[in-house]
Amino acid sequence: MFLQRLPISAENITPLPKPHTLSSSPRSQTHRYPSLPSVTNLRSRTLALASQKAAVEVPGESSDGAVGSKLSREPEPLPPELRPDLIPKHVAVIMDGNGRWAKMRGLMPSAGHEAGVRSLRRIIELCCSWGIKVLTVFAFSYDNWVRPKVEVDFLMSLFERTITTEIDAFKSEGIRISVIGDTTKLPDSLQRMIKYAEENTKESSVFQLIVAVSYSGKYDVVQACKAIAEKVKDGTMEPEDINESLIEQELETNCTEFPNPDLMIRTSGELRVSNFLLWQLAYAELFFDPSLWPDFGKEQFVEALASFQQRQRRFGGRTS
Ligand code: FPP
Repeated sequence: MFLQRLPISAENITPLPKPHTLSSSPRSQTHRYPSLPSVTNLRSRTLALASQKAAVEVPGESSDGAVGSKLSREPEPLPPELRPDLIPKHVAVIMDGNGRWAKMRGLMPSAGHEAGVRSLRRIIELCCSWGIKVLTVFAFSYDNWVRPKVEVDFLMSLFERTITTEIDAFKSEGIRISVIGDTTKLPDSLQRMIKYAEENTKESSVFQLIVAVSYSGKYDVVQACKAIAEKVKDGTMEPEDINESLIEQELETNCTEFPNPDLMIRTSGELRVSNFLLWQLAYAELFFDPSLWPDFGKEQFVEALASFQQRQRRFGGRTS
């Protein structure tokens, strides 16, 4: 069996407090803070909200509850406040705030990342239910390699463990997984697992999860430039042939039919793009949520989508 061929190395990984089972936490039992209007001062709202939640929730549990270790099979109806005809095709997410979430609970950053995986599962379930075709998540930036080795090792192991756990569910649910970024820097076993997962889900067409690992927008543009330069060098292309569409074809998001996100969400109140999909975000609508990523659930996702649906997208033109 594949799982046995790719054992997960536990070396250099900080032991974690065992998280509680999420399915035992129905939404109704969790304290909910009131939804807040979109105003400035996101940073202080973030900290206030997070401390409020940290005080009332069990470590490891997400505010949405009911997220088991695998994807749920039950599709969820679209909330009445969302219009089915205005659902974005491609949503990108900067899943920020795992470290702060853990720190507030006196836990290691690794506990925040574990909790972050549960939020990600929940958002994938909602994307599948509501007809979003592509979700790109920033899981590990090219610039994150400078983090403490123990955290980097933990994250690599977490990626491998999560993909290993989910691959069968992904296949049966029609979910394709693709990874973008400089994967040559990743541990060999993770590289093998990524290849296996990409190969085994490539025919899936319900939904595509793109995981950006060891990725940065600048890295992506550089690798595209190099690929184009090689073609010019070997004579298969002339410099005059270079145009936007050609560059787009060389960017790593060429793995999807919808390479440019319609909506980019960043959690944790930071108002930056942080070297994510620089080219691809040119006309994305941006939504910044004060929740820390492990607390980002259905309520926050609906708020982001509702905000998106109220935007007038002009792509440089005029609407009237
Ligand atoms: C940012 O939080 C988050 C990360 C660097 C890692 C996110 C990764 C996951 C949620 C796991 C995803 C798994 C798969 C398989 C895709 P931070 O640590 O920078 O938070 P902080 O700013 O509060 O310290």
